[in-house]
Amino acid sequence: MAKILVNESGPLHGTVQISGAKNAVLPLMAATLLTGDTCRIEDVPDLADVKVMREMLKSFGAEVEELSPGVISVTAKEIKTTVGDSELVSEMRASTMVMGPLLARCGKCVMPMPGGCSIGKRPIDFHLDVLRAMGAEILDDGGMLIAKAKKLCGTTFRFPYPSVGATENALMAAALASGTTKLLNCAREPEIVELCSFLRSMGAKISGERTGTITVDGVEKLFPTDHVTAGDRICAGTYLAAAAAAGGEIEITGVDPVVLVEPLKALRKMGAGIRISGATGPKARIGMVMERRPAGVEIDTGPYPGFPTDLQSVFLAVEAAGSGESRFKETVYEARFEAAMRLAAFGADVSL
Ligand code: UD1
Repeated sequence: MAKILVNESGPLHGTVQISGAKNAVLPLMAATLLTGDTCRIEDVPDLADVKVMREMLKSFGAEVEELSPGVISVTAKEIKTTVGDSELVSEMRASTMVMGPLLARCGKCVMPMPGGCSIGKRPIDFHLDVLRAMGAEILDDGGMLIAKAKKLCGTTFRFPYPSVGATENALMAAALASGTTKLLNCAREPEIVELCSFLRSMGAKISGERTGTITVDGVEKLFPTDHVTAGDRICAGTYLAAAAAAGGEIEITGVDPVVLVEPLKALRKMGAGIRISGATGPKARIGMVMERRPAGVEIDTGPYPGFPTDLQSVFLAVEAAGSGESRFKETVYEARFEAAMRLAAFGADVSL
């Protein structure tokens, strides 16, 4: 197991350019399976999950090339198999998101059922239910999901909870389905907006992605596209949190501040001075000054535009160095407080 050694740094200073978002790029890579021509994606972060997704695309017969650092091309000219590799699926839960594209393009797929993980049970019932509503037959054969559909058909489906992954799967399936699909109570995360814009640039007919109700008019064929991945809002929030804990003055670029509204609000409440300058969108510069120990905050995680659950443990760690009492409520996952116990082991005063 890798070890990370952290030495006391004192206040942090400097500027960081944020890399492309992992949670954005994974569904985009899965969506390249929807066309036989070459898609190009820029600002692909060099991360373990991205490597797993590359291997997964290759295992289906796609050619994946690294054109230059952070730039890949994917050509899924021929899908040679629609059977997911158990080892790759066990390494990354997000591999479930290839089900929608494979069913839409090939009418079948076999995927090992992903297990739970340290942050919760993480079932995939919404993924399967929406694909079934579109006409797929899906059987669980001893932990292997066997799915087939002669042709996916448009439908109206309401997600019981605005699941990011299930919304992504449904969007990719609906893009090539016959007829109109209306998806209600969809996730509204920036990664959903980005996937919709990627699919639209491939020729898909999609509207409503910022509202929670998305309409997709299925098309016969999708085309290749080029795309630059948006900056990682979780990574950006993590750098800001580091400076909130250690103090100092930092600046980050490459992320649209609009997708960081709740984390920035929490940082301001902690006592950070935040200044957004320069252009709007991802070219904006987010400057932060922290000259005190962080004041206590109350944070409830929630689906976007709520506070992101992926930053909950990071902000919890900041507050372990804080001056007041903070209260965190996790509403997305049922068991995502492992970090609290680890912080307690370091001597933080945490009660669950
Ligand atoms: C994505 C992100 C992850 C983030 C999460 C919530 C990626 C690759 N991962 O994960 O970093 O923490 O969104 O913002 O984008 N659920 C069900 N049934 C389902 C699907 C989900 O009960 O079929 C539940 C989950 O157990 C969880 C909640 O819904 O409690 C949210 O999950 P979901 O939005 O689907 O998260 P992911 O897409 O897996």
